[in-house]
Amino acid sequence: MVTMRTPIIAGNWKMHKTVAEAIQLAHAVCEGVVNMEGVDVVLCPPFTALSAVKNIVEGTKVGLGAQNMYWEEQGAFTGEVSPLMLVELCGYVILGHSERRQYFGETDEGVNKKIKAAQSHGLTPIVCVGENLAQNEAGETAEFVGGQVKAAFAGLSAEDAVKVIVAYEPIWAIGTGRNADPTTANSIIGLSIRGMLADLYGEDSAQQIRVQYGGSVKPENVESYMSQPDIDGALVGGASLKPDSFLALVKGALVK
Ligand code: PGA
Repeated sequence: MVTMRTPIIAGNWKMHKTVAEAIQLAHAVCEGVVNMEGVDVVLCPPFTALSAVKNIVEGTKVGLGAQNMYWEEQGAFTGEVSPLMLVELCGYVILGHSERRQYFGETDEGVNKKIKAAQSHGLTPIVCVGENLAQNEAGETAEFVGGQVKAAFAGLSAEDAVKVIVAYEPIWAIGTGRNADPTTANSIIGLSIRGMLADLYGEDSAQQIRVQYGGSVKPENVESYMSQPDIDGALVGGASLKPDSFLALVKGALVK
């Protein structure tokens, strides 16, 4: 089947960059992507830098995303940020990143609520799934990742489902320099993620949903992932923190 999924490279800055540093990096990225067509580019700075980076990316082809949010619109939820607040600032939000699941107790059920809340405010969720090392070594990846996808999409209509971006990030490959083999990553995405989405919404819808790979993506390996048929982009941590490496990744996505 011929698909028309535009590749998407997103930089997850995690807990890096002061406002001043974020401004510098955002400027460099915006300048660097001016002539790059055929790829979507998204920057996800920490909450504290969203407003400053918004002023820089406005009117450019670079999109802006947050790294998390709570599902309620407002209320007594100290320290949380709502979709209503984010939609003034950005268009995307990363949800269910493994670091949120691992260190901050996020559950599949919470991720599902966040996806629905994000979409009801017009935000595009980038939903992360992925197995840990023990699950990988025990041969449980397909079942576990398929289950995470099913739980994340519970109750979503096909119309909403096709607007979600999924990121397959094997936990053991994040920030470790240890890469998932591109062919293996492609088959997990094809069979366990897009396959599950096809079970839920039919093949046509599943073919419209973009799925990124994430986990130690670097300029040296980006093309090996991007040349895989089921991999539509990358969610990048470490290599998104410097303009040169991030721009090299964006260029690498043009192999599509
Ligand atoms: P990494 O992080 O590129 O530093 O491995 C990816 C991510 O956690 O999104």
